[in-house]
Amino acid sequence: MTTDQPDHDLSPRPVAASRISLARTMSHLDANPLGNVHGGVVMREVDTAAGMAAARHASRICVTAGIDELSFKRPVHVGDLLLVTASVNDVGRTSLEVGVRVEAEPWHGGERRHTTSAYLVMVCLDEDGHPAPVPPLTVESEDERRRQAQAAIRRQVRKERIARVGAWQPEHF
Ligand SMILES: CC(C)(COP(=O)(O)OP(=O)(O)OC[C@H]1O[C@@H](n2cnc3c(N)ncnc32)[C@H](O)[C@@H]1OP(=O)(O)O)[C@@H](O)C(=O)NCCC(=O)NCCS
Repeated sequence: MTTDQPDHDLSPRPVAASRISLARTMSHLDANPLGNVHGGVVMREVDTAAGMAAARHASRICVTAGIDELSFKRPVHVGDLLLVTASVNDVGRTSLEVGVRVEAEPWHGGERRHTTSAYLVMVCLDEDGHPAPVPPLTVESEDERRRQAQAAIRRQVRKERIARVGAWQPEHF
């Protein structure tokens, strides 16, 4: 069920208004058996940043509905400073896509590497926990327009995939 609450501000908001950057040093507690940072640790930071960007855009609590893509391009090492940047790429009716870029650099300085990219679908919830409308997104730069167009393609691809293989059903597992 979706609710419309006329008193909630649904005026358009620019991408820059909700972009967020988080930073955290990776410790040995974040390591996998190989000694690098566990992928799940990076995913947690990605999810946190995406949730914050979505909530900032919508001024509401947002939950993760799905991840359209997540690529680990390079490993993260214990002792690295993890820099996580999230911004809203596009909005639907009650959902929005957030793009997250993760970079890592040695804590004492040095080369900064692009390690991870992810695209998450977040759904905004009203006070009763039902999906709620999100404000429109204003795209201003060429990069923002490109990311919005790419997000629309991912949404279309997701719909086509569901049409071909069906949506997730608990009995499939
Ligand atoms: C996400 C959730 C609120 C969607 O509820 P729902 O009743 O399926 O909602 P609807 O069918 O009305 O869809 C609402 C929106 O979510 C989108 N959506 C729903 N499931 C989705 C999925 N798996 N992937 C991408 N988008 C999804 C729909 O496309 C729709 O978008 P739109 O309004 O912009 O067109 C519900 O599935 C949920 O609570 N999931 C658990 C979320 C959670 O706990 N996340 C943390 C994981 S530990």
